[in-house]
Amino acid sequence: MNYWVVLPAAGRGERFGGPVPKQYEALPGGLVIEHALAPFLPSKGLRGVVVALGADDTRFAALPVAKHPQVTTTTGGASRAESVLAGLNAVRARGGTENDWVLVHDAARPCLGAEELAALLTALATPEGASSGALLALPVADTVKRSGALGPTGMAPVTATVPREGLWRALTPQAFCLGPLTAALENALRLAAAPGGEVPTDDAAAIEAMGGAPLLVPGSPYNVKVTLPADLTFAATVLRSRTETTRHD
Ligand code: CTP
Ligand code: MG
Repeated sequence: MNYWVVLPAAGRGERFGGPVPKQYEALPGGLVIEHALAPFLPSKGLRGVVVALGADDTRFAALPVAKHPQVTTTTGGASRAESVLAGLNAVRARGGTENDWVLVHDAARPCLGAEELAALLTALATPEGASSGALLALPVADTVKRSGALGPTGMAPVTATVPREGLWRALTPQAFCLGPLTAALENALRLAAAPGGEVPTDDAAAIEAMGGAPLLVPGSPYNVKVTLPADLTFAATVLRSRTETTRHD
């Protein structure tokens, strides 16, 4: 199957903090963003990768992967949705057509496994996946609580326990066709501009708002998004354990 990859990498990592945006934090064997790109570059069927960078990004161009013949960059936007949209427009400028598959993968996810990527591509080849698109996701494992307003202690009381059955955490990559995903993100940004509107935090939400029902493909709990410093520690452990396994094979 032929596909494009859009890597939104224009975030500032405000929750992570630190002197550099989290996608440029170091991990064993490379930076977060280098690990995020790595699973796609040897893959069969890849037509090209577009990385959406912050307007003031000077770091990406200095990485060896910036010279990879299939990797190009564009300037992202103020939200993830705008950055993805910029990436989709760059795919089109490189010859992508409306029915081409695009896999959107967070630059902040350095541990995507080859077998997960294969499972996603396999799902796209099924009739349901082919018509609705698909995303990696994980069933929620913990008991889920809804909270009320913060009290004077800075802690909030429980207002409800939300049954976790049927609840999933959305991961990336998320795969949709270029035309429908562009239309869905443009629609989502239009709605978000209205009072009380909110920009969706993933691509599937934009597709769902258009009436789509993307397929949930079970992913791996190792496919962590670096949001807080503890996630970087976890990612380092995952990557280290993979090199050790390879070494002993
Ligand atoms: N992203 C982007 N453009 C934005 C915001 C986010 O390309 N304007 C990207 C991030 O770089 C990241 C992915 O979207 O690869 C997921 O977003 P998130 O984890 O929220 O990253 P940040 O927005 O950087 O972090 P924070 O929300 O804590 O500031
Ligand atoms: Mg963010």
